[in-house]
Amino acid sequence: MSAESRKSKATRREPRGGDPSLPPKPVSASRVMLSLLATPESRNLFGNVHGGWILRQVDEAAYVSAARHAGNHAVTASIERVDFRSPIRIGDLVQLSCEVQWVGRTSMMVGVHIEAEDILTGAVRHTNTCVLTYVAIDKDLKPVPVPGLILETEEEEQIWRKAEARRVKK
Ligand SMILES: CC(C)(COP(=O)(O)OP(=O)(O)OC[C@H]1O[C@@H](n2cnc3c(N)ncnc32)[C@H](O)[C@@H]1OP(=O)(O)O)[C@@H](O)C(=O)NCCC(=O)NCCS
Repeated sequence: MSAESRKSKATRREPRGGDPSLPPKPVSASRVMLSLLATPESRNLFGNVHGGWILRQVDEAAYVSAARHAGNHAVTASIERVDFRSPIRIGDLVQLSCEVQWVGRTSMMVGVHIEAEDILTGAVRHTNTCVLTYVAIDKDLKPVPVPGLILETEEEEQIWRKAEARRVKK
């Protein structure tokens, strides 16, 4: 089956999760790409980028994804396991990409993928992956429903199923 026919097959499926009274949104609507230069202020004791600096960037980028999907502000409810696969060096270009991958009634799971590029050589390393859960809130900080999620590709379907399985286990 071609990529196009896989996509159109998935597009015909009903939106998942969320509040059916709100217009659903595709995963792509929440996609955020952020590029940051790792500058010396982010240095740890060993001369590489501090893990706390990375987590801050992750939380900010993932917040934008969640708030875009929700059309509301959102708070971080949990951060799943974060693996630091390879150090990020000062001077690297840090590229974060994230998107909403699963939605419940008021909660959303956002997947974040991070790569570091050595600007001089162009070599790119996958350094971190993590999943965070956000809860959409109103002005009184109370949870509010979010739109359903439209899964347009088989990959998005697979990611949804894995997220749902982890959610059920909790
Ligand atoms: C997150 C928070 C709004 C949830 O409020 P609550 O009164 O417990 O809300 P509910 O029990 O109705 O749960 C609301 C949703 O959050 C989800 N949720 C609550 N705690 C969660 C957690 N630790 N991990 C994942 N999901 C969580 C629930 O499963 C539910 O999802 P659903 O609506 O999709 O089914 C509240 O706990 C809070 O304000 N926490 C502090 C957030 C914060 O300060 N973050 C750091 C700075 S942004």
